[in-house]
Amino acid sequence: MAKRLGIITSGGDAPGMNAAIRAVVRQGITLGYSIIGVKRGFKGLLDNEYVNLTARYVSGIINSGGTILHTGRCPEMKTKAGMNRAIKAIKDLELNGLIIIGGDGSLAAGDMLSKKGIKVMNIAASIDNDIYGTDETIGYDTALNTAVESIDKIRDTATSHDRIFVVEIMGREHGFLTADVGLAAGCEFIIVPEMKTDLHKLAKGLKEGKEKGKTSEIIAFAEGCGSSCAFGDKIEKLTGFEVRVSTLGYIQRGGIPTARTRILASKFGHMAVDLFHKGKKNQLVGITKGTVSAIPISRAVSREKKFDDKTFKVLKTLSV
Ligand code: F6P
Repeated sequence: MAKRLGIITSGGDAPGMNAAIRAVVRQGITLGYSIIGVKRGFKGLLDNEYVNLTARYVSGIINSGGTILHTGRCPEMKTKAGMNRAIKAIKDLELNGLIIIGGDGSLAAGDMLSKKGIKVMNIAASIDNDIYGTDETIGYDTALNTAVESIDKIRDTATSHDRIFVVEIMGREHGFLTADVGLAAGCEFIIVPEMKTDLHKLAKGLKEGKEKGKTSEIIAFAEGCGSSCAFGDKIEKLTGFEVRVSTLGYIQRGGIPTARTRILASKFGHMAVDLFHKGKKNQLVGITKGTVSAIPISRAVSREKKFDDKTFKVLKTLSV
């Protein structure tokens, strides 16, 4: 019987998804598989939207953001009926396995499918970098660089006007992206859901900064901490300084993937196919301590990635 692998990008897009698709397709073809691309995430699987992926189909995409397969969030996959339809679609397509590129929602879908007997490989891709079992996700480095570049620009206007800026950064309910952005952009403070913030201490710190001659002060604020505008208002009231709020938003999800992102994506995609070919199943492919590696999906979904407060401490010392 012909060997067939399905590939799907699901959830929020992340730069580098295309590089991962390219790697899966080309390594798959090299090992004798035909590769079926599912369009528009799991919704496309339920609606039978497919494309036959060839080596040439994925030409010229390693350097493009977004996903050529399109993506989406599919609440139906959380229902029994949706899951059954997905399993039927996979069986009708005669797929030997499904490679899912995405973040935590995709991992949950992979876990459910694997428990129903479908052979799955998840590839960690998300700008949030919040997945247990990988030190870094595809797209994270690109989003990090985009956000840092944006804050460098905000710093210019903040300094010219002697203002305080609150910059809201994506990450859903986690502060991994915010913490690294804050450190790399030389922010004075980072506010993340994983760490408690004492507003009065923060206001005191901002005032001390001004006394020490700082002309601008930037607070990297994780979206998971609530309304950045309400937060900015409180800071303005407590300090008496002029505060502006800037939400970086969806620019963090797009753009040309960095070399680092492309390298990870290529290695993750290559490994996912290799593992499958060697008879492994239901693994999450990521990177740990510099080595591309895999752990069981069931383990990855059941644990929380730990927030490293070292970044917090380093930033505090360096932002004097
Ligand atoms: O998970 C990636 C992410 O960009 C989060 O940082 C953000 O909270 C969310 O997706 C936005 O989701 P949506 O694309 O559904 O608006």
